[in-house]
Amino acid sequence: MKSDELSAIIRKRRSVRVYKSGKVTEKQLNSILEAGRWAPSGANTQPWELVITRDRAKMRRVRQIYDNEWKRRKAEDPVHYKGLKKDYVGDVSILVLVLGDPRTMRVYLTTRQPGDREKLFQASIANAVEHMMLAAASMGLGTVWVSVREEVEPELRELFRVPQPLRLLWIVPIGHARNWPKAKPRRKIAAFTHREIYDSKKLRRDAEIRAWPKE
Ligand SMILES: Cc1cc2nc3c(=O)[nH]c(=O)nc-3n(C[C@H](O)[C@H](O)[C@H](O)COP(=O)(O)O)c2cc1C
Repeated sequence: MKSDELSAIIRKRRSVRVYKSGKVTEKQLNSILEAGRWAPSGANTQPWELVITRDRAKMRRVRQIYDNEWKRRKAEDPVHYKGLKKDYVGDVSILVLVLGDPRTMRVYLTTRQPGDREKLFQASIANAVEHMMLAAASMGLGTVWVSVREEVEPELRELFRVPQPLRLLWIVPIGHARNWPKAKPRRKIAAFTHREIYDSKKLRRDAEIRAWPKE
């Protein structure tokens, strides 16, 4: 593969939140998992575990769990709560639950601080997620990185029988996009790069740090 092909896939990937029917084949799934398998990880611990489901009834239950949480939060603060509904977890070809085994943090021999261990653990798993998303995008399949908040975690753990001490971190739907979304704005390279020393003129003002920036 030429390097511009990888670049094209990276630029093509989007968070897909509306899916149409259509199966992700086992062959496609296997390529996606293979991409996750090759992700770099701290001390090569490979701390990820994946629960994969095609079961529609389970997906509907996942959607209900997220929906209930959305309703609770909205009821608490009807004016300010801006959380988006996560209907996309309920109607897609495949759901992948991304788990992490925190015991792998014990084997980072030279790392003593808990925060540093957590950093290695989280970054390693995130790499596997991103690898899988890029592999999916290369096949024209949509994915989205779905957060598992503490409020929904217990019910999801029960549904998928996730044992202790594993952590349930993310959900990744994989399916056929209804429409391929437009690109979200990205910061310019010059805005976040600094040559030789940090350029303080580029340090963003507090007001510039926000969700869903327009540019
Ligand atoms: C750590 C992480 C958590 C995210 N959580 C969610 C989520 O819970 N729900 C969602 O719809 N998108 C989620 N996203 C997707 C981001 O909103 C998305 O990547 C960003 O807006 C850029 O859009 P793009 O992925 O289409 O380029 C998450 C992304 C990351 C990296």
